[in-house]
Amino acid sequence: MENERIVVTRQPPGQALAILESAGSVWMWTEDRPIERQVLFDQITTATGLYTMLTDHVDEALLKCAPDLRVVSQMAVGVDNIDLAACRNRGIKVGHTPDVLTETTADLAWGLLIAAARRFGEGTRDVAAGRWGDWDPNYLIGQDIHGSTVGIIGFGRIGRAVARRAVGFGMSVLYTQRRPVDLSDPQPSFVPLNELLERSDHVIVAAPLSTETHHLISTNELRLMKPTATLVNIGRGPLVDSAALHHALTSGEIFAAGLDVTDPEPIAPDHPLVTTPNCFITPHLGSSTIRTRQAMAELAARNLVAGLRGLALEAPVIA
Ligand code: NAP
Ligand code: GLV
Ligand code: GLV
Repeated sequence: MENERIVVTRQPPGQALAILESAGSVWMWTEDRPIERQVLFDQITTATGLYTMLTDHVDEALLKCAPDLRVVSQMAVGVDNIDLAACRNRGIKVGHTPDVLTETTADLAWGLLIAAARRFGEGTRDVAAGRWGDWDPNYLIGQDIHGSTVGIIGFGRIGRAVARRAVGFGMSVLYTQRRPVDLSDPQPSFVPLNELLERSDHVIVAAPLSTETHHLISTNELRLMKPTATLVNIGRGPLVDSAALHHALTSGEIFAAGLDVTDPEPIAPDHPLVTTPNCFITPHLGSSTIRTRQAMAELAARNLVAGLRGLALEAPVIA
């Protein structure tokens, strides 16, 4: 066990490091930015465990340089940055951090929906620029959330947590994904994607990124949405076609967008989506509360240690 060598690509919060150090020697990238790829390539050569962030690309090229690697543990639930097939082929276990971030991320989805549909972005910009004039009955008129129909694309842990919150707003919920879930309650209703887009007053994307979901929402899908509808994306940026979204927002095909994830990410300040007033963007803050980030970091650390010890991972993607 003392021979374990763990590479950590970014300083994790909480007790994660102490947990990792209980299993072997730890090398950590300590700079306040993602690890340089060449540094990761240099460090990975003797690593038995790798603790990753969603900004790291764990691909065949990297794994080739890591003959001793047995476990990759990601401090995130989404693992689209990891080549899972390549890990599987090499017998490498992969862990992630589901559940502990579900409620926190669902909270943010609602924040985005309300902010976008009620035009918080334009409002705060006006206040900062001294454009807040006298109360005006026609100023920054938005769309109602309460009593409307929300369509959730990707009805997994986060999608369902988003749906639970809709009850308080007196909303109807539609959802879509590949397989309907077995719910005894008739609410929410499973519908095909196109029907969801047509019927929903607001749409929230909470699916993972895969080859199947890349640009799941593009020109045709946006055209199906109501002109009064808001699109929220808290999954991954490339689920939504940025150029098509920009067109839909500026041509009035949809009312507004609320994005926590973008394509590209980070997004430049002069990107058309950033400068579009009815697009409200937060910088990938879904899981970012003190308690949740700590829970994610520690779960990822426990996953890595368990994997190195030959025990079952608490939250495996590849067991
Ligand atoms: P999850 O429990 O696995 O739920 C994902 C759901 O998406 C599943 O129910 C799945 O159902 C559905 N899905 C998969 N492929 C689909 C497709 N082709 N079309 C429609 N639906 C599809 O995952 P989760 O914990 O809720 O997390 C979801 C994603 O949110 C993560 O993968 C991550 O990318 C993102 N996330 C973002 C943040 C943030 O900070 N913004 C935070 C946490 C997570 P089927 O398999 O039946 O299709
Ligand atoms: C964050 O985006 C995650 O996937 O955990
Ligand atoms: C608005 O502030 C109102 O009182 O209607």
